[in-house]
Amino acid sequence: MNTKAPSESLAADLAVVRQYLDQAEQPRALSSTEQSDYKRQIVELMAQKNAKLVAHYYTDPVLQELAEASGGFVGDSLEMARFGKECDAGILVVAGVRFMGESAKILSPDKKVLMPTLEATCSLDIACPIDEFAPFCDAHPERTVVVYANTSAAVKARADWVVTSSIAVDVVEHLMAQGEKVLWAPDRHLGAYIEKTTGADMLLWDAACIVHEEFKARGLRDMKAMYPEAAVLAHPESPAGVLELADFVGSTTQIIKAAQTVPQKQVIVATDQGIFHKLRQLAPDKELIVAPTAGNDATCRSCASCPWMGMNTLPAMLESLQHESNEIHVAEELAVKAMVPLQRMLNFASEQRLKVQGKA
Ligand code: 13P
Ligand code: SF4
Repeated sequence: MNTKAPSESLAADLAVVRQYLDQAEQPRALSSTEQSDYKRQIVELMAQKNAKLVAHYYTDPVLQELAEASGGFVGDSLEMARFGKECDAGILVVAGVRFMGESAKILSPDKKVLMPTLEATCSLDIACPIDEFAPFCDAHPERTVVVYANTSAAVKARADWVVTSSIAVDVVEHLMAQGEKVLWAPDRHLGAYIEKTTGADMLLWDAACIVHEEFKARGLRDMKAMYPEAAVLAHPESPAGVLELADFVGSTTQIIKAAQTVPQKQVIVATDQGIFHKLRQLAPDKELIVAPTAGNDATCRSCASCPWMGMNTLPAMLESLQHESNEIHVAEELAVKAMVPLQRMLNFASEQRLKVQGKA
């Protein structure tokens, strides 16, 4: 059975994160002329420098459009890692959060990886420091260590497997079939979801995403009463009560695909609001509804919007490209170790794709 471990400090971690974010400067809104000017300069520089922009669905729609218009890529964290590795750019500009830039660098050591800001982190990464995680692993040598991609390079380097939300259940099912017990970190909600879905023996770290943590089952139940026909699509970083009410649970890309394919016309979505840009493009006939968070506007902290993803702005991106600043560096020894579980994930993902294609 699942044993919760090891932290009594989740609330404290979240309090620190929130305090930091309360003090962080909010990006200034740009006029449309300023936006066009920044975009033009960025596209010119990327062409000159053989750079490609890789953006996550949670980033500003302006950046997502820029990535696609300039031959870059928008996707979930697994696809971002894959695109970064496979594309032939000399420079990758990663619009997302720090772990995404680090994964890109680890998988493409010969590419220069830049980020609009190096401050964009993730509450899961913060709550799983290597000096606490390594002893936890050491205390359970009989378990296979599986970590979420939302972790530092040092934590990845200590793991047997790295997974993203799009592939976590498949990997754990695969390990379970080989009789392995799992040590999972850091997201407790995703961990509990995998454990429940697969029935695997999992020991869970105790951290959470500050954005998804705010979706609450009670509010969602009330919303379902208002929209009884609606399908609920949720990211597995959401609390268990929310996932139990969901018709579909999956990664950002999987949520977008589900929105396109579910028969319902109304779709309630429990994940960061940045995803609505792509949802509106790809599911234009659907009525898209943001799942309720713990509070509204002034009373909620994230309002379904990741504050770190929001730090990726056009001015910061232009500056980073002009000066090739905010470069991601990963110490070679760590990178070599972290590459192993990351590459294992990519190999597993491509084998899975082949299997699915073989069935079709
Ligand atoms: P995806 O892998 O689903 O894109 O999720 C990344 C993430 O950080 C979600 O909060
Ligand atoms: Fe991390 Fe949550 Fe932001 Fe994703 S949405 S990057 S899990 S804090």
